[in-house]
Amino acid sequence: MIVTIDGPAGSGKSTVARAIAAREGLTYLDTGAMYRANAWACLDRGIAPDDEAGAASVAEACTIEFVPEGESQRVIFDGVDVTEAIRTPEVEAVVSVNSAIPAVRDAMGKRQKAIAAGTDIVCEGRDMGTVVFPDAEVKVFLTASPEARARRRAVQRAGGDTAKDATATADESSVQEILESIKKRDEYDSSRETAPLKPADDAVMIDSSDLSLDEVCDKISALIAKAREASERKHEQGDAVPLAEAAVESDGAEGDKPAKADVVAKADKPAKKDKVLEPMKIVGNSYEDYYAHPMADYPLHAKATLGLLVGLVGGLSKLFFPWRLEGADELAEATRDRGAVIVMNHTSMLDPVLPVVSLYMRGCHVRPIYKSEFDKIWILKWAFARIGAIPIKRGSADMKAMRWATAALKAGESILIYPEGTRVKDDSESEIHGGFALIAQRADAPVVPIAIVGARDITPRGKHIPRPGRVFARIGEALHLSDIEGSRKERVAKLEKLVMERVFQIRDALRREHPGKM
Ligand code: DC
Repeated sequence: MIVTIDGPAGSGKSTVARAIAAREGLTYLDTGAMYRANAWACLDRGIAPDDEAGAASVAEACTIEFVPEGESQRVIFDGVDVTEAIRTPEVEAVVSVNSAIPAVRDAMGKRQKAIAAGTDIVCEGRDMGTVVFPDAEVKVFLTASPEARARRRAVQRAGGDTAKDATATADESSVQEILESIKKRDEYDSSRETAPLKPADDAVMIDSSDLSLDEVCDKISALIAKAREASERKHEQGDAVPLAEAAVESDGAEGDKPAKADVVAKADKPAKKDKVLEPMKIVGNSYEDYYAHPMADYPLHAKATLGLLVGLVGGLSKLFFPWRLEGADELAEATRDRGAVIVMNHTSMLDPVLPVVSLYMRGCHVRPIYKSEFDKIWILKWAFARIGAIPIKRGSADMKAMRWATAALKAGESILIYPEGTRVKDDSESEIHGGFALIAQRADAPVVPIAIVGARDITPRGKHIPRPGRVFARIGEALHLSDIEGSRKERVAKLEKLVMERVFQIRDALRREHPGKM
């Protein structure tokens, strides 16, 4: 689902978009920050902000990351933290001119689509509903009188927050000064040729001048609820989406794109077909091809390598660490059409072998999700791609990995996630990395807990030479988001907690049944 919130400076877009993201469990994208960062980089590198070629080359070559920090996020431009630097008056003074350059908008628009592809997101900006996401399910155009907007900005600059204190006031001369600058910027943003600030024809207009933050959010939440209902109706009617579309890059279109909130008739519109994944080649496929394509489409030699690796690793591991995964038949049966998000405790490198090999022997694919740091070792990167594993960049919302995982699930492949992140050699409480329930939600897939014991004893803490020994693992009962009550955000959080509890319950039961195994 894509929610767009456009509007002029000071209309309250950022505050509203953040609040909606938190309320509805959506990713938040501040596109103004992207334009600000580009303007900052031009200033920093001595490029005139209106130098079209210079500004475009910065926009095309840069990297922009949003790193969550508490309730907000930090903006990292080409590896430099520019969170504060992009909010200075120097940047404010040039950002309109810089962001009006068509090639800059083009580069940023592509990035915005790539970030949003296949995710549930609220995108805030000027041209979200008109240019970048014309098919967004919910479009809002937020306005407020210039006076109300100037007062909010002035209060903000003085360190206050009108979202928390609606009656906060600021120094009148500063309000007037900001009012002038806002009027100028509005005029510029609305009259520029490329992507001028204007509401989309199908946007819902909300004037926030006399509304509290909660009142504005309630209106938008109602639109989102309506869009979700339309989406569920469409889903029930069996509107299946091909994997290729779900995984397609830079498309901006989510796989199971629901109908618009208020234009249900558009649900019948045929899905976009213009950006379908190219079939895999016999040779010369990129790593991303292996992550994005269903494993059934891998070229023959890759399938043979997979069979060989599974046979070799499966055989050797069974020889040295005789292992058993209880419940594999049932899981294979249950996941033939739609994969499951498999969640497991992590004690050793042997852990992923059990589900991958067991399900492969039953004709099902399991794609482990691994930390991208392993990609530095080329042989691992190569082998992991052949077994269908998907790298994930930790510490950031890795949208590509999310998209690949979602597409895999929809194609009937399961994904294997270790929320503990790294191998845990003792029973101390490890940090649980969330996110798996969101993937399950997007793919409408069940979450299956698995626990393993005995694998930690192979190479206990401080030892490096593996010791042979028996290993036991069990697949627990699946959980589905629809089994849980509450708001979407609550359900996602509860599901993650419940699944991890199940993993540890199964682990403890296995330990009781096999005394001495850890
Ligand atoms: O929302 P903001 O004040 O952070 O935006 C900074 C500038 O970027 C503003 O002058 C308009 C421009 N902008 C844009 O042209 N298109 C967007 N989608 C977002 C911002």
